[in-house]
Amino acid sequence: METFSILPILQKIPIFQDLNEQDHKEIIDRITLQYFPANTIIFSEGDPGDKMYIIKTGLVKVFKTENSQEKELAILGENEFFGEMALISEAPRNASIITLEECELFTFSKQDFLKLTSTNQHMATIINDEFIKRVKENQKYDI
Ligand code: CMP
Repeated sequence: METFSILPILQKIPIFQDLNEQDHKEIIDRITLQYFPANTIIFSEGDPGDKMYIIKTGLVKVFKTENSQEKELAILGENEFFGEMALISEAPRNASIITLEECELFTFSKQDFLKLTSTNQHMATIINDEFIKRVKENQKYDI
C-alpha cells in the first residue's frame, strides 16, 4: 500500500502507536485493506486462524452459536481488532464475526502478526491484555 496515505491512518491505531520506522515500513509492505459489505460473515467459529483484523471503519458483531442459539459476545468498532486469539493460542476461531455495516478492515497474516508482536513490546502488551480480558469474559459465560 502507498506509504503517504497509510502511515497517518496506522498512527491513529493504538496498537501501532509505538512502532519504529522499520516496523512501520514492514507493516506498510504487508498490511492489506479489505472492504466488506454489511451482513458479511468474515469467518466462522471453528475455522482455522490465518490472519488478524483491525477495523478501520465500520462495526462487527462477535458471536457464538450453541444449539442453534446465537450468543453475542461483543460489538467491535473503529480501531479495535479481532482474530488474535486463534493466532496466539494456535487454536481454531473461537467465535464468528459478521459485519453490521459496510466495513474497511486492515488484515495481516499470522506470520507477520507473530513477527511484529515478538519485536514490538507495546503492540504485544495491548494485544495480550485484550486476549486475557476476552478469555476471562468468555469463561464467565462458560463458553
Ligand atoms: P479468534 O478466536 O481468532 O476469532 C474470533 C475472535 O473473536 C477472537 O479471536 C477474538 O478476536 C474475538 N473475540 C472472542 N471473544 C471475544 C470477546 N468476549 N470480546 C471481544 N472479542 C472477542
